[in-house]
Amino acid sequence: MIQLREVSKSFDGGYSYAVKDLSMDVAEGETVVLLGSSGCGKTTTLKMINRLIEPTSGLISVGGQDVTSQEPVLLRRKIGYVFQEIGLFPHMTIEQNIGIVPKLLGWDKNRRRLRACELLELMGLDPGVFANRYPDELSGGQQQRVGVARALSANPNYLLMDEPFGALDALTRDTLQQELLSLKERLKKTIIFVTHDIFEAITLGDRIAILHEGKLEQIGTKDEVYNHPASQFVAELFSKPAKQLATFKEMT
Ligand SMILES: Nc1ncnc2c1ncn2[C@@H]1O[C@H](COP(=O)(O)OP(=O)(O)OP(=O)(O)O)[C@@H](O)[C@H]1O
Ligand SMILES: [Mg+2]
Repeated sequence: MIQLREVSKSFDGGYSYAVKDLSMDVAEGETVVLLGSSGCGKTTTLKMINRLIEPTSGLISVGGQDVTSQEPVLLRRKIGYVFQEIGLFPHMTIEQNIGIVPKLLGWDKNRRRLRACELLELMGLDPGVFANRYPDELSGGQQQRVGVARALSANPNYLLMDEPFGALDALTRDTLQQELLSLKERLKKTIIFVTHDIFEAITLGDRIAILHEGKLEQIGTKDEVYNHPASQFVAELFSKPAKQLATFKEMT
């Protein structure tokens, strides 16, 4: 599982905090969605878990082991990470991008190729069309799906996904959300999924963690956060979709 204890991060020597006193546990096989608006500390939180950012204070453990006692490179091999900015390597083909971690793990070329094809198909991309292309020959949404495929490549137990479906249209997004749910069911992944979309949070999260200005407002099941909001902020956040629907009905 993944544990955070009183984790804080300041980028300016303590003048302001991107994340402040964040404590939460993500159980084995659980999906926790980090939900919150732009700048509330979602990406910073994910990056601290795989040591792309070091916390100012607090403790983080993955699989029962303090992350600071683990080599960053080895830690990152067991955690699949989907970057918000996607970050495919431009000089590598799609197949090579997906095969980066498998190559580090010593898989031979044939096995890497089969895995890349399997994952491209899972993401709804025809391997015959896409495997040998370069990232700049793909649309933003296609690149994003390759980013997800790359994170899954070595079948990691842990997945950190930073707005992985942000650039996708509603239909493709819906398909991939369902894929992720069935994948999780079959393979029992432990997932932290970042979004600012309430519907996505409700669809995917076993629990939802609402962040606001670097602080955890509440963590709970969709029933808990919707029916028993812990703060005014959470109550307002979850009453928004109903208000939008009412406005939509008035307009049509
Ligand atoms: N490297 C950095 N140096 C200084 N400040 C930073 C750095 N990275 C993030 N921040 C600040 O920390 C805060 C949290 O940023 P973060 O990227 O975690 O937000 P986020 O919730 O992921 O937002 P978004 O939804 O826009 O991606 C922001 O105020 C941001 O400006
Ligand atoms: Mg972010």
